[in-house]
Amino acid sequence: MPAIVLVGAQWGDEGKGKATDLLGDRVDFVVKFNGGNNAGHTVVIEGERYALHLLPSGILTPGVVPVIGNGVVVDLEVLFDELTQLAARGIDVSRLVVSANAHLVLSYNRTLDRVAERFLGSRKIGTTGRGIGPAYADKMNRVGIRVQDVFDASILRQKVEGALDLKNQLLVKVYNRRALSVDAVVDELLAYADRLRPMVADTSRLLTDALDAGRTVLLEGGQATLLDVDHGTYPFVTSSNATAGGACTGAGIPPTRIDRVIAVTKAYTTRVGEGPFPTELHDAAGQRLREVGGEFGTTTGRPRRCGWFDAPIARYATRVNGVTDIVLTKLDVLTGLEQIPVCVAYDIEGVRHHELPMTQTEFHHARPIYEQLPGWTEDLTAARSLADLPRAARDYVAAVERMSGARVSAVGVGAGRAETIVVHDLV
Ligand code: GDP
Ligand code: IMO
Ligand code: MG
Repeated sequence: MPAIVLVGAQWGDEGKGKATDLLGDRVDFVVKFNGGNNAGHTVVIEGERYALHLLPSGILTPGVVPVIGNGVVVDLEVLFDELTQLAARGIDVSRLVVSANAHLVLSYNRTLDRVAERFLGSRKIGTTGRGIGPAYADKMNRVGIRVQDVFDASILRQKVEGALDLKNQLLVKVYNRRALSVDAVVDELLAYADRLRPMVADTSRLLTDALDAGRTVLLEGGQATLLDVDHGTYPFVTSSNATAGGACTGAGIPPTRIDRVIAVTKAYTTRVGEGPFPTELHDAAGQRLREVGGEFGTTTGRPRRCGWFDAPIARYATRVNGVTDIVLTKLDVLTGLEQIPVCVAYDIEGVRHHELPMTQTEFHHARPIYEQLPGWTEDLTAARSLADLPRAARDYVAAVERMSGARVSAVGVGAGRAETIVVHDLV
């Protein structure tokens, strides 16, 4: 039975939350497999706006079991805040399952994230400051604290002691901060133990058993292809695998179980934080995309950098993720433009590149080669089939499909759940 992976094709904020919500009533499990509360998904249901950071978007769909997989880093304070806020709005949050193997984001990870960025100065990454990178670094360094550690006070104390040995040296001697006490860190974590215990499970086993029983599992990626630590624009990336491969390691599902890979792709491009962005606009056109598209971060409120659609990136996303279906979002935001430039290739030192170049140096020098596609003026928000779209908008969708190398199965024409054209069923 199907395991479906859903990832972002660009630099995040493509509308993955809305796409997951759209599939919600046809899937049994929605699993977040990477990232943490650096993600921000806005989902609009019947005019009600929900902003999710750590919880999988499936939490909003009655009947769906939302799962936080082992590949996620969990800030317990954020987890319980988010659950409390959703419960206060009448959402049933009792089905949430959290992997015993997921790592925790601790207060010192948050502190180190922020001071390290300041320390980097002009070389900063522009992180969300949520402690995500330091928490993954601790995981790889084998000094991380996991969800299951909170249920064994003596192990927890030993691990926190071990971690703080080095962290306190760093905090005090390098960053001129106060040292943390083992007691304070341990007590803060233990205070969550009773509320956390009923949610925790062996989620790899839960999900493979569910697939054996014929259930449908949607694996929802945070961040996106170009923010992937291996396949993105390193070092201007997040610290996890946001591409489809990450779904297997981050959820404990073998690759042979994945049937479909959906890439959520914005009809133009945005990026938050530092790093190269070939089609970025620094003029009124970029300002227009930001205003009409509401391109301000869900997590940090930062204005998103905006630019035109980038076909080499779309092709790259198709290739590294093995994309079978594209959900093209925010087509409505392009309404009213006379012509729409689309980057079809890069000029790098006089050489035309159809694919992403091999090196960071080349990518920093990539100059977009544009083709102009005709625009349209008609409002798209009421369209529910491709036939409802004006000719030029239909052609734009076809051009994206052709350039990306995967079929467009849905098109977003507004933020609401209903404002979507479904071309091919996704489940
Ligand atoms: P995510 O991080 O990929 O889940 O995306 P975000 O939620 O951070 O950002 C996407 C924004 O676009 C949200 O505010 C959505 O409500 C909105 N959105 C999603 N799809 C569409 C669409 O087709 N049209 C418009 N106008 N807005 C959309
Ligand atoms: P969603 O899931 C957009 C960016 C940050 C920064 C870099 C590293 O909403 O698409 P981090 O705090 O992860 O160490 O920051 O990654 N970033 C995102 N940009 N959408 C996101 O998530 C992001 N998560 C991280 O801005 O450039
Ligand atoms: Mg987002």
